[in-house]
Amino acid sequence: MASFLSRSFFFLAATSPLLVAGDEFIRGGVVPDGLRINEFKVLEGHDTPEDFHSPLPHEYIAEGELPTSWDWRNVTVGGNSGRSLLTHSLNQHIPQYCGSCWAHGAMSALADRIKIARGGVGDDINLSIQYLLNCGGGVAGSCWGGSHSGAYQFAKTDGPLPYDTCNPYLACSSDSTEGFCGAIDTTCSKANICRTCSTFISKGGTCSGIDHYPNATVAEHGTYNLFTSDRVHKIKAEIYARGPVAAGVNAIPLLDYKGGVIKEGSYFDMMVDHVVSITGWDVDEEGDEYWIVRNSWGQYWGEMGFFRLTTGTNLLGIESTVAWATPGSFTVANNFPCGEGGGGCGGKASDDNGPHAQYYVDPSINLQAVKRGLREGHHHML
Ligand SMILES: *[C@@H]1O[C@H](CO)[C@@H](O)[C@H](O)[C@H]1NC(C)=O
Ligand SMILES: *[C@@H]1O[C@H](CO)[C@@H](O)[C@H](O)[C@H]1NC(C)=O
Ligand SMILES: *[C@@H]1O[C@H](CO)[C@@H](O)[C@H](O)[C@H]1NC(C)=O
Repeated sequence: MASFLSRSFFFLAATSPLLVAGDEFIRGGVVPDGLRINEFKVLEGHDTPEDFHSPLPHEYIAEGELPTSWDWRNVTVGGNSGRSLLTHSLNQHIPQYCGSCWAHGAMSALADRIKIARGGVGDDINLSIQYLLNCGGGVAGSCWGGSHSGAYQFAKTDGPLPYDTCNPYLACSSDSTEGFCGAIDTTCSKANICRTCSTFISKGGTCSGIDHYPNATVAEHGTYNLFTSDRVHKIKAEIYARGPVAAGVNAIPLLDYKGGVIKEGSYFDMMVDHVVSITGWDVDEEGDEYWIVRNSWGQYWGEMGFFRLTTGTNLLGIESTVAWATPGSFTVANNFPCGEGGGGCGGKASDDNGPHAQYYVDPSINLQAVKRGLREGHHHML
């Protein structure tokens, strides 16, 4: 047992950087695969994988209280069944290849949590992944890899996160020369946080940064790792109570995935080199419980961009490096309006109450509502 543990600890520590032994935070290695880069890397500046004060959902939801299945693509909202509270599927590899899975997995899960907090009301808030690529280089990652928990740390300390309507995904970071990346500026300048362009350059136009823009913040963030006892219960309670989580996975067995529930994988398949988001769980006809997982390789991949794999055995490393974040505030109305050319913003908002931010309320604030929802078979926030 001791030698198995120390061997697996060594092995996993070398491949799954988020495993925490005591207070020590262990940094990752590179998956020995010549073709695929390891997109899961913990950067030097990522020193705070955990920053939270609220109780974790498993502390107030027992495993037996959880529903047998939970799928954020298919929930009942305001009495209407069959609603999805997930934000849109993403594709990290266009317009050119970029190893930004870590940003996609992390931002998709966070944007889903904002959508859940809004009960699906209003146009979806899509967070800017390009902002993380432009500015998150020391803590979060780049096109050459990064970490979901680093993205959450960065969003909390160097936020706020702009929406993608002022900083769309370009699949470039300053260390990438792929495709058109060598020809564009992705440094962390003001215009590369949130920008507008006034008119054609030939007509005197310029592109410039915006001072005040609709944005979202991170309130708390944390991780669950392979040495988390009772980890399936903890991850399920987290997903049910607060929304999807980001998770490390080994992408190599997924490259040719064509659908169905993955039930087998070798020990070596647990090496994490990719990040995705777990959006729910269910039980198949054979009685096996599986995770429902969203990838960021487009909807033509897998099951409309998703895959499934059984829970409980850390298949493909999916339970070894889970990260979550809760939103802080997000702008829903009455931003500081800017002119088309970016001028005038930062002034008075369209009414005197200033920007209308919505503040996330952690479910632990109202445990009675959580318990009532569990008993009555609905979600406390919906
Ligand atoms: C949604 O869930 C209901 C049960 O809650 C199920 O009957 C239905 O088939 C599901 N729909 C989809 C598209 O998965
Ligand atoms: C977010 O993305 C979805 C899917 O593409 C889109 O329907 C929605 O309008 C977007 N929201 C905004 C504010 O752009
Ligand atoms: C972020 O949004 C809030 C309102 O939601 C606003 O008060 C704040 O000024 C915004 N921050 C920036 C940098 O625009």
